[in-house]
Amino acid sequence: MDATDDLTIVQLGLEDAAGGLAISSEAQWNQNEADWNFFLSKAIVFGVRAPDRRLIATAALMPYSASDAWISMVLVTASWRRRGLATRLVDECLSSANRLGVTCWLDATPAGAAVYGPLGFTPTIQLQRLRLDRPPVVTGPPLPQGKLGDLVTCDISAMGFDRRALLEELAGRLGSRLVSNGDALALVRYGRTARHIGPVFADCPAHALKMVRDIAASESGPLLIDAVASQQAFVKGLTEAGWTVERPFQRMRFGRATTRGDEPPFAVAGPEYG
Ligand SMILES: CC(C)(COP(=O)(O)OP(=O)(O)OC[C@H]1O[C@@H](n2cnc3c(N)ncnc32)[C@H](O)[C@@H]1OP(=O)(O)O)[C@@H](O)C(=O)NCCC(=O)NCCS
Repeated sequence: MDATDDLTIVQLGLEDAAGGLAISSEAQWNQNEADWNFFLSKAIVFGVRAPDRRLIATAALMPYSASDAWISMVLVTASWRRRGLATRLVDECLSSANRLGVTCWLDATPAGAAVYGPLGFTPTIQLQRLRLDRPPVVTGPPLPQGKLGDLVTCDISAMGFDRRALLEELAGRLGSRLVSNGDALALVRYGRTARHIGPVFADCPAHALKMVRDIAASESGPLLIDAVASQQAFVKGLTEAGWTVERPFQRMRFGRATTRGDEPPFAVAGPEYG
């Protein structure tokens, strides 16, 4: 019997937000308490506790529609890694997904992809996380506010399913900005250590880049964006503007191919949300 076989998987609740935040912060992730509260109230979140009751591992299954769900927050505290905990937790998510009859998607870190591949996940698109530490502060007219309905419409066209509840919650958080200039639409929200830009929708790379440049000019702290790697002109424009590539993410799917979106966005809502 493996050393962790006697640790049972439990379903987590809102009271586990602090424990979850401790593990994601240890991994240097950008999720904050609002993200954990959202997962713990809207998703099925599994966890494992050490014998001393401390939360040591998590994984969440977020059903977005009757056909599609997102797996995320797959985290194991450093001292408990390589003992099969992530594999067991993701397996538990897959069992729940199977009961719900949904296809699972996730955005994997390189370490995560090593866990998901053997479980049967297959790669789809790639993402690049980019970071801008010191945005140039330029005073200009404020960016016009975007409409939630437009964001939902663009998102459905990109994802192939409706994430209104997620987008409404992200846009409604304290400090979030939903901005639009007619050519591009983007959401900006707080993270634990940096503000996050995404999703970003636009009719061409130049308009997406202008939107990101205008957002950066009106923000004062570090920024993160998860760009779709196939939007090469966009990624190139960001790096030319001083953004640095921090890490790749591999989008993966488990289960049958569901309705595909028409056109990928320029940047996604975040690897934890897709
Ligand atoms: C990725 C992570 C969740 C893996 O958790 P874990 O409990 O150690 O994973 P498992 O023990 O179930 O690993 C199963 C297999 O996946 C592979 N694997 C796991 N971590 C790996 C790594 N860092 N590098 C290469 N392969 C790895 C191995 O094949 C491993 O089997 P083995 O230990 O018998 O060789 C953990 O390292 C972690 O929390 N990392 C930081 C956060 C993160 O990247 N999460 C994934 C988000 S998508």
